Amino acid sequence: MNKTVDLLNQYLSDLAVMNTRLHNLHWNVTGKAFKQVHVYLEELYDDVFEKYDEVAERIKMLQGYPKASNKEYLETSKIKELASKDISTEDAFKSVFNDYGYLKELAMEVRIIADSEDDFVTVAILEAHVAFYDKVLYFVRQTLK
Ligand SMILES: [Fe+2]
Repeated sequence: MNKTVDLLNQYLSDLAVMNTRLHNLHWNVTGKAFKQVHVYLEELYDDVFEKYDEVAERIKMLQGYPKASNKEYLETSKIKELASKDISTEDAFKSVFNDYGYLKELAMEVRIIADSEDDFVTVAILEAHVAFYDKVLYFVRQTLK
């Protein structure tokens, strides 16, 4: 199995848990800006869900097997689930900022490995992901200032 597939499976697991984590924040966030933040978090989990499927299908194109169980995702993911309880908008944004920083770093790492294997299709996918993560990090940084 090539290294790109292994790393894509790490990334896939992180995206799967991130999907649950973002839903948790979307439901439990509190505060005066609730509506805006609630809607923004929905945009983020919709995007994460698309990336999740895109990454799994890329693994199949590389003739690998995408991890496909919550058990494996929880064992593999470096992003952790949250307890279901109230969370302030500020803490929700801090959580998003940390997690997207991690996703960006990982996407860049996978991109470098894919490039070393001349897998330019995976490189292109990950470059688009990093561009989106940069936008999220910019948005959240401005919000937390
Ligand atoms: Fe919703």
